[in-house]
Amino acid sequence: MKVLVTGGAGFIGSHTVVALVKAGYTPIIIDNFENSDNSVLDGLAEILGAQPLCYEGDCRDGELLSMIFEAHPDLQGVIHFAANKAVGESVKDPLKYYDNNLGSTITLLKAMVHYGVPNLAFSSSCTVYGQPEVLPVTESSPVQAAQSPYGNTKQICEEILQDAVRSGLNLRVLSLRYFNPIGAHESAIIGELPIGPPQNLVPFITQTAVGLREQLSIFGHDYNTPDGTCIRDYIHVVDLADAHVAAIKVLEAKQDVDQYYDFVNIGTGTGSTVLQVVNTFEAVSGVKVNYQLVERRPGDVEQVYAQVDKATNLLGWKTKLTLEDALRDAWRWEQRLAENRADEADEEEDGFMD
Ligand code: WQD
Repeated sequence: MKVLVTGGAGFIGSHTVVALVKAGYTPIIIDNFENSDNSVLDGLAEILGAQPLCYEGDCRDGELLSMIFEAHPDLQGVIHFAANKAVGESVKDPLKYYDNNLGSTITLLKAMVHYGVPNLAFSSSCTVYGQPEVLPVTESSPVQAAQSPYGNTKQICEEILQDAVRSGLNLRVLSLRYFNPIGAHESAIIGELPIGPPQNLVPFITQTAVGLREQLSIFGHDYNTPDGTCIRDYIHVVDLADAHVAAIKVLEAKQDVDQYYDFVNIGTGTGSTVLQVVNTFEAVSGVKVNYQLVERRPGDVEQVYAQVDKATNLLGWKTKLTLEDALRDAWRWEQRLAENRADEADEEEDGFMD
């Protein structure tokens, strides 16, 4: 079964491509490489033994999507990752986020309906919950006003998907509300590739540990949590990738259903504070992290972590990997990136000396 993976060269997308192949699917990637690198395709070839087919382009390009859907009439489903995802950047450049995240989703839906491809797993986010009143957060927890344009685009996309299904279009959709994806593939051949200084906690920790960053700033230590730092639900990206395969399987099985829409939390069900993540990283890596406690980051919620019964009941899925596994894999990935940089520097030096 062929599955189109938009943003398939990205962090979660590339790990999902591996999971799809492992499950016997044929992934087709479309990616504009705005937030990824061609080296990811080489990594996928190394892991999979062959490079998945990849179209370089943007999901807002209706003609490109038509060409892809016509070239692959046996496409059975789509996993839609392609979006901008930096909370801070979305505050500075909201139009970029509304144009890309909404525009790509609408153009993709039109192509899916036109070519009769009904199954869609959509990359949503726990940001739709804002700061939940009750924890752990369940799918019946109220969606609250988004704290950023990024979070708002996820909420609006979920509404677009629901309305499209309700209008009677032949679509079967699952919105996966991720918590905090971290870690890397066990091979350390693919992982998180932040462009510029990392916005997210774990890549900043590993870059500090490897000497790329001087010091980690921990945003806020006066929250109402055990150690004063924020709590999040950090899920290994490989577990998250498997959840997408489980979602596609559920949608594929609904052959007799013309319209379907649901949403589900994809997390571990356990919350960890920032300091717990730092301490766990130090324990698994043996490397001390240089950090300072600074003021809160605007837009951060104090604590959010998932109740995941629905994912287990609906998808037959739950996490298998731990926070320690994810931090160990993230560290191995960071060390491999450092080795690659050193090799490139040596080659440049050799080239210079010749
Ligand atoms: C986690 C905690 C920070 C960096 C966002 C999106 C979410 C998803 C992941 C796309 C917070 C603290 C961070 C640092 C720090 N996006 N932190 N120092 O904001 O929970 O989630 O990214 O998939 O949809 O909302 O993730 O990793 O940025 O922050 O102290 O240098 O780490 O304050 O408490 P976040 P994050």
